[in-house]
Amino acid sequence: MPHVCSGTTLGRSRRIVISRAWPSSKRSWEYGRRPLYPDSPPIAGINRISTSTIQRGHLAAFPLSSSLSLSSKKPTAAVASSLVKTSGKPTTTYRTFSSTMATAGEHHTLTIDNVFSNLRRMEYAVRGPLLLRALEIEKELKKGVKKPFKEVIKANIGDAHAMGQRPITILRQLLLLTISPELMNDPRYPEDVKNRAKAILNDCKGGSVGSYSESPGIEIVRRHAAEYIERRDGHPADYKNIILSNGASDGIKSFLKLFNEELNGLPSGVMIPIPQYPLYSAALAEFGLSQIGYYLDEDNKWGLDITELERAYNQAKKTCNPRVIVVINPGNPTGQVLTRANIENVIRFAQKNRLFILADEVYQDNIYDPDSAFHSFKKVMIEMGAPYNKMELASFMSISKGYMGECGIRCGYAEYFNMDPDVMAILSKSISAMLCPTVLGQVAMDVVVNPPKPGEPSYNQFIKEKTAVLESLAERSRLVVDTLNSIPGFKSNPAMGAMYVFPRIDLPPKAIEAAKAAGQEPDVFYAFKLLEATGICVIAGSGFGQKPGTYHIRTTILPQKEMIKTMLNSLKEFHLKFMKEYS
Ligand SMILES: Cc1ncc(COP(=O)(O)O)c(C=O)c1O
Repeated sequence: MPHVCSGTTLGRSRRIVISRAWPSSKRSWEYGRRPLYPDSPPIAGINRISTSTIQRGHLAAFPLSSSLSLSSKKPTAAVASSLVKTSGKPTTTYRTFSSTMATAGEHHTLTIDNVFSNLRRMEYAVRGPLLLRALEIEKELKKGVKKPFKEVIKANIGDAHAMGQRPITILRQLLLLTISPELMNDPRYPEDVKNRAKAILNDCKGGSVGSYSESPGIEIVRRHAAEYIERRDGHPADYKNIILSNGASDGIKSFLKLFNEELNGLPSGVMIPIPQYPLYSAALAEFGLSQIGYYLDEDNKWGLDITELERAYNQAKKTCNPRVIVVINPGNPTGQVLTRANIENVIRFAQKNRLFILADEVYQDNIYDPDSAFHSFKKVMIEMGAPYNKMELASFMSISKGYMGECGIRCGYAEYFNMDPDVMAILSKSISAMLCPTVLGQVAMDVVVNPPKPGEPSYNQFIKEKTAVLESLAERSRLVVDTLNSIPGFKSNPAMGAMYVFPRIDLPPKAIEAAKAAGQEPDVFYAFKLLEATGICVIAGSGFGQKPGTYHIRTTILPQKEMIKTMLNSLKEFHLKFMKEYS
């Protein structure tokens, strides 16, 4: 008999069930007695090495029967901290909350025993233990602790401004004018920016960006987004199908939430690429949706192979109802740009299996390979004709990426295509409970979807800045790939687009043994050693998922040119020493 946590009914009749006996070969977490991750490739921490650590922590956290030899003591903060750690032994080093909480339980209504267990299980590698240690090292450097390096290089996350990218002038000017309309009389601001600011403020209640907007966003910005899509695809777009959000992340979660419903006693399944951007594994874990991983083909520039989609789908449908396929194009962390033929095949596969397509197209401006082009799923679907032009699609865009890199201002949009109007009404109701996305984010989005036109005063500067950023990113992507491929044991596909490189690293058996002894995944072990020795913070491939027995790291291409050169030199030097030590 499985042990059911008393009183932890999740949502409707949903329960997290923990098997009493815990053979390491079996999956540890079950969802209504079905695996949460049916036949999915491993993702950060949900793997054999680290689950043993996590299992002990989780087992300690639940009142299991006395037949188990594991401790049933209430967890301390130290144990709890091991639950949020990606992998490795329980330790307080990467605790994400204060040690003053050490006596959790007695005075707390909300404890590790009864907090929403899906959130306990959720992981998000790009802000995980490696970054926490990097932040700690930064503090140590500030305190004067001697290290073999002077600064921490955060190549862990696609945050361009954090790595020195300059903002696009018109975007910041528009923010200034909408925040402080008295600046409209200031001759330093171009007339076209003033006109944009007036048009947006005209659509803001009380003429102020301090007021709530409509829940799906300010109408003029949604209209501009629809016009932007029409220009991009050459096909009509309806502004009523555009919903703005606090970053694409928020919109993606609002969309995935719609599938959080069991059909015929089985949970919904979402197909995601492996390697993937960890927002997806995190959101699926949070909602209790089944993750169906399909591997991208590393030997074929991380292409998307339809036979692999079939394999993943057929295996998963025994335990869940596959209902969505996520495609990230251009890819994060893998940097591939899908060909039009590849997209057509994915659309045919989705149509055959009645899957809703989630096209994560936030890197649509970041194409560096001169032989590749961005093709939106919507354009391809329309141009394929019936029945494909009637398929359901949610496509996402963001101000965080592209040439803008405005990650902190937060805005994204979704275009819903062929969505059932009744479902659209449910989605609208659901987002209205959050009132509205940040209005300043929407102002920034307006520049992206309504950029200056030829002849307008801001046009030349805008084009100059946009081109400079994109050309520099293209140059850095080539520099990173070429340098990594010159290091023995590194193999990287070209970064055709996006902002990352995901090289494979051949780790020697001795390093793999040492990682095991440290209770870490081998690439996590490598990434920690790299961080401690050089101050370079990258993310281990296991945070994104990878084929068993392969090891990767993900680095961004975002540090500015001189810094990226320094980074690559230190990485090379470190790797050669590491190989010597573990060969
Ligand atoms: C593929 C992908 N989708 C979505 C996002 C989230 O973007 P936002 O900052 O708009 O939430 C990111 C961020 O890195 C991403 O890489």
